[in-house]
Order: sequence, then C-alpha cells, then structure tokens
Amino acid sequence: MHLIAFVNQKGGVGKTTACRTLSQMLEKNGKRVLVIDLDPQQTLSLSVKATANRFDYETPSIYSVLVENLQIKNAIQTLDTGYDIIRSDNRLYSYNGEGILKMDEVMPFKDDPQGMYNYIMNKANRLADPSTDDKHKLRREIETIAEYYDFIICDTNPDLGWTLTSVLMSAPIVNLIVPVFAEDSSREAIIALDRSIKTIMAHDLSQKINILGVLLTKYENNNLSKHYYKALNNTAQTIGTSLFNTVISKSVAIPEAMAFKNDLFDGRGGIVLSQYESFYKEFIERIEKQ
Ligand SMILES: Nc1ncnc2c1ncn2[C@@H]1O[C@H](COP(=O)(O)OP(=O)(O)O)[C@@H](O)[C@H]1O
Ligand SMILES: [Mg+2]
Repeated sequence: MHLIAFVNQKGGVGKTTACRTLSQMLEKNGKRVLVIDLDPQQTLSLSVKATANRFDYETPSIYSVLVENLQIKNAIQTLDTGYDIIRSDNRLYSYNGEGILKMDEVMPFKDDPQGMYNYIMNKANRLADPSTDDKHKLRREIETIAEYYDFIICDTNPDLGWTLTSVLMSAPIVNLIVPVFAEDSSREAIIALDRSIKTIMAHDLSQKINILGVLLTKYENNNLSKHYYKALNNTAQTIGTSLFNTVISKSVAIPEAMAFKNDLFDGRGGIVLSQYESFYKEFIERIEKQ
C-alpha cells in the first residue's frame, strides 16, 4: 500500500481537486483506493456526498476513529465514486490530540499525592509511546486495513498543525504531493512544509516522508507563470524534490465540475483533463521509482 497525502498549508491551491481526480484515475486503472478526508471543511466529503451536511455528526468519520475510538474499518464508505472514502467532520477543527491533564482527571487525587503522581506518570508514558500515543493513532488504524488497498490517499487541511503531523506519520513511508499556485507565497509554503518534515524525521529516524513532487495549479500561459515555474522548481530542488513537468491550467471546467458534483471524466474536462492524465503518468513513474 502506498500512502499519499495532498498537503499545503495554504487553502484554495487545488489540493482537494487533485486528490479527487488522482483517486478517480487510480480507481479507473484498477487500483484499490481509499480516500481519507482529514480537512474539517469537508470539501471532498461533501462533494461526493459522504457527508450529509456540514453538521453531520452521525455518519462515522475520521473523527469517530481518532477521538471516539471507532475501528477504522467501520468508518469506510463505499460510494458510487468507485473508490472508498472515510469522511471528515467539522469537529476536527478543535481536536489537537488528548491534553496531558484535565482538572477533573486530577481532582480525585487531591488528598493522594502518590496516587496523583502515578496517574500523571502513567498518562505521560502512554502519550509518549508511539504504540499508544494519539499522534500515531492514524497510523495504527491504517495498518489494520492497509492490506485491502493499493493506495490510501489523504486530503488534508490548510495547516501545519496536529492533523497534518498525524498524516505525516501515518505510514512508514509517506509520499506527499504539494499543489501550489504560481506566486511568491508558494515558495514559503514549500520551505515551511520542509521544516515540519525535518522536525518529525529528527524525532523519529525510521519515519520516511518523501515529497513526490510539487504540482503547479491554476497555471496561466504568461511570462509570470513561466517565471514562477522556474523559481519554484529551484526552491523544490533545494529540498530534494521537483515540480511535476505537467502543470494544471486555470480553467472554469474545474469549479463547474466540482459545483455540479460531476467529475472531470464526463467529457467536459478538455485541456485540464488531458493535463491531469499526464500528471497521472508522472505520478505513477515517480511512485514506481520509490
Ligand atoms: N485548475 C483550476 N482552475 C480553476 N479553478 C480551480 C482549479 N483547480 C481548483 N480550482 C478551484 O479552486 C477552488 C479551490 O480548489 P480546491 O481543490 O478545493 O483547493 P484546496 O483543497 O487546496 O483548498 C475550488 O473552487 C476549485 O474548483
Ligand atoms: Mg481542500
């Protein structure tokens, strides 16, 4: 199983669109695919109707798995998308893992300092141990279903916080795709992501996090875009990756496809569909080189 995650702490750069399109292309090519939506905005879950509405707290979600201890296999939905999906939940916005202590946990020990000490130490040990901590929970759960899929693909929230950290540690090797716009702030986004990756790998030398490539989206055929292709490719190379050769043009076909809840394969994708097809080929080449 290959674990793929679409990441960029900026929103609106095309993560969800690329995640949905790649998942669909993999599925059409006979791969067994599971998509996990970890963005509390639920864009992907809503667009494929895995979430009934933004305030759906009933349908099992990745929140049920991470916070309410539902087994991950019970959160999987099989829809007419062809790929399986685990939906997101807007309560993920405020979830940052279990805190070290809450007042009501320690109150029972107010006359028992030794008991309190033991309780705190037990909890600290549990939260520090990768076989029981919260940050590796996604990984522990994914391990239980990994054999059923060729690809597990995570769509993430625009943030470098707790959820993203969990995703970056969700398999022994995590492959990232970073969609970006042709603009200066994208350079900053690539460098900040690299810093997060290095911090995690410094804490756990066995964790591999690989940026498969940076995907330029909403590309316009002008000199500024061309300049940024080169500049961003230089930045990507300084952190050991590169831009995909394929760029995705800015096209109204995409918001239309998303809005009408169709896909890019219904014959209306035009140039963008063929660009995504060539991105797909590059993706397969890069993943096979792993
Ligand atoms: N190549 C493109 N051209 C024009 N609009 C696009 C393109 N890719 C994505 N969009 C639109 O931009 C918005 C943000 O895209 P989305 O994939 O949701 O980004 P993210 O997940 O990074 O927030 C959506 O409305 C989407 O339809
Ligand atoms: Mg998104």
